[in-house]
Amino acid sequence: MTLKNDLILRAARGEKVERTPVWLMRQAGRILPEYRKVRSKMGGFKELVETPEFACEVTIQPVDILGVDAAIIFSDILVIPEAMGLPYQMVEAKGPWFEKTIKTAEDIAQLKTADPDDLHYVIDAIKLTKIGLNNRVPLIGFAGAPWTIFAYMIEGSGSKTFSQAKKFLYTQPMLAHQLLQKITDSTINYLKGQVAAGADMLQLFDSWAGALSPEQYNEFSLKYISQICDAVNEVPLTVFAKDAHFVRREMGKLNCNSIGLDWTMDIAESREMIGGSKTLQGNMDPCLLYADYAVIKKETIKMLKKFGPDRHIANLGHGLYPDLDKDKVICFVDTIKEFRF
Ligand code: CP3
Repeated sequence: MTLKNDLILRAARGEKVERTPVWLMRQAGRILPEYRKVRSKMGGFKELVETPEFACEVTIQPVDILGVDAAIIFSDILVIPEAMGLPYQMVEAKGPWFEKTIKTAEDIAQLKTADPDDLHYVIDAIKLTKIGLNNRVPLIGFAGAPWTIFAYMIEGSGSKTFSQAKKFLYTQPMLAHQLLQKITDSTINYLKGQVAAGADMLQLFDSWAGALSPEQYNEFSLKYISQICDAVNEVPLTVFAKDAHFVRREMGKLNCNSIGLDWTMDIAESREMIGGSKTLQGNMDPCLLYADYAVIKKETIKMLKKFGPDRHIANLGHGLYPDLDKDKVICFVDTIKEFRF
């Protein structure tokens, strides 16, 4: 079972590639009319995530339509809190919402350490997608980083400040560590399950990294990310911590293959800080894709040259916005695929 296109895996391992590979965060989703069509047949987002046939269909769509070099399994980072005992709802036009949140030691004690059986619908979707992809491109599995999942479990929804989650860190640090450890153990089990089902590569999303101070980040986030990197090394792993400028040097020491950069992180400075042993992923501002085609091409080539030919996986600095024009997205992907050093 050899992959026809393994550019992303080779780039992640630091091997030579003929050209820079590309995939996009949130490539499966609302920018595609084909996604919206499948979505409209369903009761809601969760039903789509929990029905392997449909999750498989929308996972493969961007490979066919956008021509990206990898698929990412259609799911959400919030399946972990749910598997641990906190169900979520995806409220239309608002985002995630949890009816129960974590407040006390008893709440934490009642949570289950999740195992892959609790997330059989994702595992089944991965197996189906591997068959559907027929080895055309690698399949990326993913999970939220423990701090970001912790923040949702305390806040019960997204937040501008994450003040409740941070209050918990300042007022109940021991309990915070207990919860973070339980999330970490669940995430390790889950990611290992994804690899066993066929995921060729993994990504950890620390979307709310920027809410913490450098010291807090080391204590409450990086420590657990590091445990995951050490425990899950069957396939290449990328750590993407949004807004985590202050921790780039430490990121270079993680036992993982690649580090995701957002668009606020200078490329040369990030290389210097992270060091040569990691592949860098990113980091175009998704808003560039609102610009004219000529501007998109020019800026994309500029980005490619800044990263250079080695150890780069092209991507955005965060997910695609739902109102972006699909053709502009294809222009970004094609510019990368056509460029040669
Ligand atoms: O294509 C892909 O990238 C794979 C699928 C994927 C989704 N969510 C599907 C989704 C991935 C990798 C995620 C990760 C995720 N989910 C993150 C980390 C990445 C990031 O964006 O920082 C976070 C923080 C979440 C939590 C989440 N899920 C929020 C805040 C929202 C609502 C905001 C929004 O964009 O609507 C979601 C919903 C969600 N997850 C959608 C999709 C396609 C939109 C749901 C819809 O179809 O209406």
